[in-house]
Amino acid sequence: MPVTNETEKKKVIFSAIQPSGTITLGNYLGALRNWIGLQDEYDCVFALADLHTITVRQEPAKFRQNTLEAYALLLACGIDVEKSLFFIQSHVHTHAELAWILNCYTQFGELSRMTQFKDKSAKHADNINVGLFAYPSLMAADILLYQADMVPVGADQKQHLELSRDIAQRFNGLYSPTFTVPEPYIPQTGARVMSLQDPAKKMSKSDENVNGWVAVLDKPEDILRKFKRAVTDSDGRIAYGPGKDGVNNLMGIYSCITGKTNAQIEAEFDGKGYGDFKTAVAEAVIAHLTPIREKFTQYIADKAYLEQCYTKSAQQALAVSNRTLRKVMKKIGFIPKPF
Ligand code: TYM
Repeated sequence: MPVTNETEKKKVIFSAIQPSGTITLGNYLGALRNWIGLQDEYDCVFALADLHTITVRQEPAKFRQNTLEAYALLLACGIDVEKSLFFIQSHVHTHAELAWILNCYTQFGELSRMTQFKDKSAKHADNINVGLFAYPSLMAADILLYQADMVPVGADQKQHLELSRDIAQRFNGLYSPTFTVPEPYIPQTGARVMSLQDPAKKMSKSDENVNGWVAVLDKPEDILRKFKRAVTDSDGRIAYGPGKDGVNNLMGIYSCITGKTNAQIEAEFDGKGYGDFKTAVAEAVIAHLTPIREKFTQYIADKAYLEQCYTKSAQQALAVSNRTLRKVMKKIGFIPKPF
């Protein structure tokens, strides 16, 4: 990680998460946990990507509640609005504006190749809307508006980030250097937390089998039950290796939470069975998430504080992102905005 000092300009981090209901242990270990740790060393900009969320139909009251809850939960996880910007994407209009512009610099063929588009359009066959298709150019706008150097995400977002880089490079090449070309920041452990019921699939809140995912706000008894039911194998050994996707996934989760290596975990559970191991993983997860759940209860009860936080961050984000947007529009040849 680069070393910065007081006089050196800090590198910029951007990342976002959709407020689409449950925030899972996958989101937490793959992304959120890393966001928290980066706040001292970098200029961090974080958003709730609610414009992305409406690519799948939402019930209005529930959508509003999910967004507010996601905001409170991320504060509870440790996002500090004194250090970082943390706002709601739809409050900062430059995102939608730059997204439209970038749509005109993104090829149909590029978007057609996105695996997430293919998966989501198969899942929502009755609503394959243009927003779902253009989703990655809105992501590119999010990132490029802040001239982000690095984007901490889970492995599933890698393809979208590569497209953001391609769009930035294309625009820079057509005009002159305008956008910082962002690097993905994908963690060594936790980048791909898998379903507890089908370890070949990533852990996702859209999985119909609720035992496949753990929510950050799940009650301890539910977390314990879900881990106890986790699919493993008939081999019986707690060891990392091929053909042991279920055990590998549990070891990955345990390693992320405790900081232990695979060798240490294998030694700890040498001679023990899957039952003991699953209980230990569940207990480690419960102990880690309990303080977050408690803080969430405090934040969600204080709507005025939440509003104050997201308003202040959105105002600052607008000022920063407008600088990039104006530069982009000038280069393209738009008449400068009169206000
Ligand atoms: P979203 O809301 O699906 O997920 C938020 C973050 O969680 C990570 N993640 C996982 N990591 C490990 N294991 C899993 N099973 C798992 N599931 C999800 C994701 O990789 C992501 O980092 N389009 C984005 C939100 C977004 C964004 C952006 C991200 C909008 N604009 C700009 C980065 C930069 C999304 O839907 O993430």
